[in-house]
Amino acid sequence: MGKLHLCVFMFLLSCFMLSIAWSKTNITTDESALLAFKSSITFDPYNLLANWSSVSSPWDWVGVNCNVGHGRVHSLNLGDMGLNGTISPHLGNLSFLVELDLNYNNFYGHLPKELVQLRRLKLLNLSFNELDGEIPTWIGDLHALQHLSLCNNSLSGIIPLSVSNLSRLETLDWNFNLIEGEIPHEIERLKNLKILRLSRNKLSGIIPQAISNLSSLEVLHLSYNNLSGMF
Ligand SMILES: *[C@@H]1O[C@H](CO)[C@@H](O)[C@H](O)[C@H]1NC(C)=O
Ligand SMILES: *[C@@H]1O[C@H](CO)[C@@H](O)[C@H](O)[C@H]1NC(C)=O
Ligand SMILES: *[C@@H]1O[C@H](CO)[C@@H](O)[C@H](O)[C@H]1NC(C)=O
Ligand SMILES: *[C@@H]1O[C@H](CO)[C@@H](O)[C@H](O)[C@H]1NC(C)=O
Ligand SMILES: *[C@@H]1O[C@H](CO)[C@@H](O)[C@H](O)[C@H]1NC(C)=O
Ligand SMILES: *[C@@H]1O[C@H](CO)[C@@H](O)[C@H](O)[C@H]1NC(C)=O
Ligand SMILES: *[C@@H]1O[C@H](CO)[C@@H](O)[C@H](O)[C@H]1NC(C)=O
Ligand SMILES: *[C@@H]1O[C@H](CO)[C@@H](O)[C@H](O)[C@H]1NC(C)=O
Ligand SMILES: *[C@@H]1O[C@H](CO)[C@@H](O)[C@H](O)[C@H]1NC(C)=O
Repeated sequence: MGKLHLCVFMFLLSCFMLSIAWSKTNITTDESALLAFKSSITFDPYNLLANWSSVSSPWDWVGVNCNVGHGRVHSLNLGDMGLNGTISPHLGNLSFLVELDLNYNNFYGHLPKELVQLRRLKLLNLSFNELDGEIPTWIGDLHALQHLSLCNNSLSGIIPLSVSNLSRLETLDWNFNLIEGEIPHEIERLKNLKILRLSRNKLSGIIPQAISNLSSLEVLHLSYNNLSGMF
């Protein structure tokens, strides 16, 4: 009986928390986050973001897709649009974002830590940009991530141990960066990993044997580093 009461209480509590979450943010939150993101773009050669304005709803904006059910922004797909700019911290306010795809543009600067708020994010593709700074430790807090593509940037630092917490990860593509240090053996915790690309970095040390325990692995790129060992 005690357990049942506890369950009912927990259920009501989560309904309450959810309703707070819902009442605090709405499509207006998403709209202002997107407009703040637009204002951090310094060059839009094809004028593709011209119709991102408060005259219309984000539902009708190029590259923006909304969830049919609750109407909030679900994905931002702005790949290969020739955009220059920084990645605005305001993107962290898109609470319902599932896909953030900015591949093949000229985004520069670092990954703003506000992106850690994107707890529903399944795909993050920032490949082929000019991002720098260290791969942040908070990346390991994006628990829903399945695809993480950061290839062809100038990202540095080490592979954070926190990455091993991304238990749903299927793609980790970090080819062509400046990542150094060793490949942590904790990577063996990524049981769903299918693609692991770390070529053309500055990794060193011994290739962890634990990689051979990644039973879902299909693609492994480790060339052009300073790694040794075999399995
Ligand atoms: C969004 O919320 C704000 C304040 O919380 C409110 O003023 C606004 O009318 C809401 N907008 C929509 C579209 O519900
Ligand atoms: C995003 O959220 C932060 C913190 O709640 C707030 O300070 C900021 O103004 C928001 N940005 C936009 C564009 O609404
Ligand atoms: C913005 O542009 C896209 C693509 O050209 C178009 O589908 C959409 O209807 C436009 N939205 C508005 C509000 O004009
Ligand atoms: C946009 O970025 C590219 C690549 O970094 C650069 O060559 C170009 O000058 C930039 N354009 C503007 C207008 O900033
Ligand atoms: C990310 O974008 C690149 C193109 O720039 C593409 O080749 C790659 O498949 C994308 N990754 C994912 C996981 O969608
Ligand atoms: C990826 O980065 C490498 C090294 O910076 C460069 O040689 C290569 O051309 C890049 N590939 C693309 C498609 O931009
Ligand atoms: C993994 O996540 C757990 C729970 O959130 C946390 O306590 C732990 O520190 C994380 N591990 C790493 C290596 O970040
Ligand atoms: C692979 O996993 C098995 C079972 O969990 C374990 O006994 C073994 O030590 C692991 N091998 C490596 C190289 O980590
Ligand atoms: C490669 O690693 C070895 C030892 O692991 C080290 O002695 C050597 O200096 C490294 N070479 C480069 C180019 O970093």
